[in-house]
Amino acid sequence: MKNNQTITVSAPGKLLLMGEHAVVYGYPCIGTAIDERIRVAVSRRDDSNFVLDASDVGLRDYRRKMQDIGKGDIPKEALFIEMAVRNVLLRCPQQAGIRVETKAGFSSQLGFGSSSAVTVASVFAVSQLFALPWDKKELFDVAYQTILDVQQKGSGFDAAAAIYGGTIFFAGGDKTTVPLAISAIPLVVGYTGAKADTATVVRSVAEKREKYPEKVDRIFHGIGKLVDEGKARMLDGDWERVGKLMDFNQEYLRDLGVSSEKLEALISAAKRTGAWGAKLSGAGGGDCMIALASEAKRAAVAEAIVGAGGVVINSTTGAPGVRLETTDSQDELFIVVDRNDTIVGYKTRHECHHNPDLVHRTVGALLFNADGQLLLQKRSMTKDMDPGLWGISCAGHVTKGQTDEEAIHRELQEELGVDVPLTFLKKFFVGDTRETERAAVYKGIHDGPFVPNAQEVAEIQFIDVAQLSGKVAKGEIQLTAGAFAALKETGVLP
Ligand code: MEV
Repeated sequence: MKNNQTITVSAPGKLLLMGEHAVVYGYPCIGTAIDERIRVAVSRRDDSNFVLDASDVGLRDYRRKMQDIGKGDIPKEALFIEMAVRNVLLRCPQQAGIRVETKAGFSSQLGFGSSSAVTVASVFAVSQLFALPWDKKELFDVAYQTILDVQQKGSGFDAAAAIYGGTIFFAGGDKTTVPLAISAIPLVVGYTGAKADTATVVRSVAEKREKYPEKVDRIFHGIGKLVDEGKARMLDGDWERVGKLMDFNQEYLRDLGVSSEKLEALISAAKRTGAWGAKLSGAGGGDCMIALASEAKRAAVAEAIVGAGGVVINSTTGAPGVRLETTDSQDELFIVVDRNDTIVGYKTRHECHHNPDLVHRTVGALLFNADGQLLLQKRSMTKDMDPGLWGISCAGHVTKGQTDEEAIHRELQEELGVDVPLTFLKKFFVGDTRETERAAVYKGIHDGPFVPNAQEVAEIQFIDVAQLSGKVAKGEIQLTAGAFAALKETGVLP
């Protein structure tokens, strides 16, 4: 991996639909990720410092020695990020100085789970920077540990929503996440304007439970039952009944003492104008409320919430979970050629990928190890073309002003972190309904190690050439059209 590589990721905020607080004590809850995202960019530093720029929360150039992170007094704006970085590095064989920059697409005031979203984004970004092959469960474990390190108590739901995205049923006991196939939730979201501190509210519930264990456990049990029924009714699309269940859920939350005057005002305004149901969402004490309403009533409900002093927030539910942000700049200029490979002009990546008449130059390399095995790479899920399919060892476009040789050596460094002497093999044309390429393919020998760029490459593997056609025929390896053509044209595939 090159030292100047920047990994940029984003993670969504969340809304709790039913089951808050009870979920901290092992009961289930249902919630949805919303398309209000926090972005985190991380890169390595040449020194051994941790540097954080989180200017949207007023933190600029916060720095300390890597060996000191997670220790001593940490400003609260840096807490989740610093602990997240520490917790990833505790599980990582490599160490390096790290720079983190965050940018929130939504205010931490709103109660959309910004602490968990930034924790998840930081864990994911740093794990990608060090190419740690973590699945969602491992990401969750490290993010959840970070949340517990900072605030001691919490169910982990917010982190699960930021990781998995969509609408999820989350088990507070074993922390499993079940995605729910629900497309659109007829929701209106109202912000009270009052910020509540989740950890404080969660602590107040814990104190209440210590004083009145039976009463509080009865409430949690009741909420748990509502969530189970809520799940079934949501899957049926019976939103009217879900609204009723939300009303019951709100009664329990009121009894727990986590509602507020302002929340109650917005909730009754929504109900008065015909919402099917309404409740607070999240920890309570302030932050947001949600209402369910038919299409016909939604505008009136929103207006009533505003009339009661709330702010209506329009956000899309069921948003995607944490993800790498694409690096494929759609404005990059590619070289367009005729069938004799003579330059006829320059067009953007976007234009070239949407018009098969714009034949553009691409380059590729087949890298073999000393045993004659061929290196293949699986394209990352953030590529704009053919995400998740297998390509040859390395491939890319020739941009304006570059020669083929310059382009392929740059690609080797960018995608695989190596440079290798190459010999030219062949030029050919390949295309499909979307695009046409003039490909130039080269060959090189290299045993590794490689340092794949996580923005570009999901995985690399040396494959026995003799087994390749069998694996392709069985669908075990799904090649891009360009890779298939390159392997055929060069005789690697029969
Ligand atoms: C906060 O979004 C939801 C709570 O249930 C706390 C938690 O689940 O950790 C109040």
